[in-house]
Amino acid sequence: MGESGAAVFRRSDGCLFAKCVSHWAVSDLRDERDRVEWLGGTPVPCPELAGWHEADNGACLVTTAVHGIPACEVSTEAVPRALSSLAAVLRALHDLPAQTCPFDRTLVVTMPVVQNTVSRGAVIVDFLDPAWRATPPSDLLAGLQAELGRATRLESADLVVCHGDACLPNFLLDPETLECTGVVDLGRLGVADRYLDLSLTAQSIGSTGMNPQYSSADADAFLQTYGIDHPDRRRMRFYQLLDSLSWG
Ligand SMILES: Nc1ncnc2c1ncn2[C@@H]1O[C@H](COP(=O)(O)OP(=O)(O)O)[C@@H](O)[C@H]1O
Ligand SMILES: [Mg+2]
Repeated sequence: MGESGAAVFRRSDGCLFAKCVSHWAVSDLRDERDRVEWLGGTPVPCPELAGWHEADNGACLVTTAVHGIPACEVSTEAVPRALSSLAAVLRALHDLPAQTCPFDRTLVVTMPVVQNTVSRGAVIVDFLDPAWRATPPSDLLAGLQAELGRATRLESADLVVCHGDACLPNFLLDPETLECTGVVDLGRLGVADRYLDLSLTAQSIGSTGMNPQYSSADADAFLQTYGIDHPDRRRMRFYQLLDSLSWG
């Protein structure tokens, strides 16, 4: 399961998950372990840390299972309630006191990640919006750099605790009530501009190819329920592109 290349296993009794990576991804998984532990001390629902195993050839993070179904698997009828739950859990996360969070996910951290991915020629073209696929990644990066001054000003005025990979599969919902039972995949959690999360959730909701129960109107409804009536589209595009160029 999952998109990161990690192998994710659920124990046959359904109570535990194990996420296993090769040696080159151990430090990312260690980051995730530390963030699971930290978020567990807040009211935001998430798995508990249940074990950590490290060897020369890789590592394995064991967490308790969050009950529920991923938000990408709800039925069409359930979408309105799912949108409210997604907005509510992101609000709760973003309302945590940012100064208590020890993890940085600001542009000071994320821009070098993107620069590194682009300079290695490692960008995953499938992760790019079709409109961006014909443009060389180095030109896309130049576009981000041109916007960096504005994005940095907006970021410093509005720092919150972000999930960092707030796409639909990483939110678990109760299949009956559609309440959010937990957020998973916390390796990129940290203090950043709230648009880092909002742009990814909205993009995931609007990706009708991947999540056909949802629509682009649902992405706007999600933002409105969160409390943003007039989204800053330029900021949304900046963070969508930043994320697309950060994998690889
Ligand atoms: N503790 C957990 N409780 C419930 N579901 C989980 C848990 N950990 C992982 N999952 C499920 O496995 C999927 C993949 O795990 P994830 O950590 O998101 O991997 P990736 O980084 O590859 O996306 C998640 O989208 C979720 O459906
Ligand atoms: Mg995931």
